Amino acid sequence: MKRTITTLTLAGLAATAAGAGIIWSGLINVGADDPHLDSVHALLSATRERSIAVRAADIPVPDLSAPELIRRGAGNYHSMCIGCHLAPGMAPTELSQNLYPAPPNLAQIGTNGNPSVAFWIVKHGIKATGMPAWGKSMGDEHIWGMVAFLQQLPSLDAAQYRALVAASDGHSHGGGEGDMHDHSRQHDHSGATPSPQPPAAPHHGDGHDHGHDQEVANAPAAPEKKVHVHADGKEHVHH
Ligand code: HEC
Repeated sequence: MKRTITTLTLAGLAATAAGAGIIWSGLINVGADDPHLDSVHALLSATRERSIAVRAADIPVPDLSAPELIRRGAGNYHSMCIGCHLAPGMAPTELSQNLYPAPPNLAQIGTNGNPSVAFWIVKHGIKATGMPAWGKSMGDEHIWGMVAFLQQLPSLDAAQYRALVAASDGHSHGGGEGDMHDHSRQHDHSGATPSPQPPAAPHHGDGHDHGHDQEVANAPAAPEKKVHVHADGKEHVHH
């Protein structure tokens, strides 16, 4: 008995030391452009599935067919989600393509057959994936609105999608709304912080000029011109 305990203890210590050695050596590549090993991926997927299934099991689903719920969900989805999850007729974005794990195309899968799971994921997010916990800034009724909208999404074409978004209240969930989809500001990094030296060349394309035709096609509306004043008092127009 005593010998068994000693053996198990030594084996445990050896495994811990090996694990620490692997971490210390830097062997594990955390780069998002280096996919997981199949075994690691299977382990993470199973953990994700079970974690969510257990937590979503008891969530009661309200009536998701209410047109008012769907209408409001459309505006919030359009404002906060399409950069990663796309919309009918929309081309892939840098976020939808470059995140790992890749955000699923919700225009195709909607709630993926399980509204309580979709609700739980939207509310709590998923650690280390890029999927935010929207419940931190949004009440349950607004999250259900997006879930109700997601149920309809796969059956909408681009024109129906646009009509529903146009009829919605836009980005509105009772407070905490950030400025998510102002492409002109998100993309023009040099314009975000006034620099002490005014740039010699006009800003056009500055910091973001690598062939982004699709963004123009994707942008919900033409970006407005933005004027700001640099530290030296010179005015500056962004297109
Ligand atoms: C910055 C990118 C990003 C944004 C913005 C984002 N998501 Fe996600 N979302 C993800 C990623 C990545 C996943 C996949 C996570 C995984 O594989 O475990 C995901 C997963 C999901 C899923 C689960 C899909 C499934 O069935 O597997 C739902 C539902 C979802 N997101 C809804 C939303 C909604 C609604 C919004 C807007 C309020 C939103 N997401 C905004 C990145 C994002």
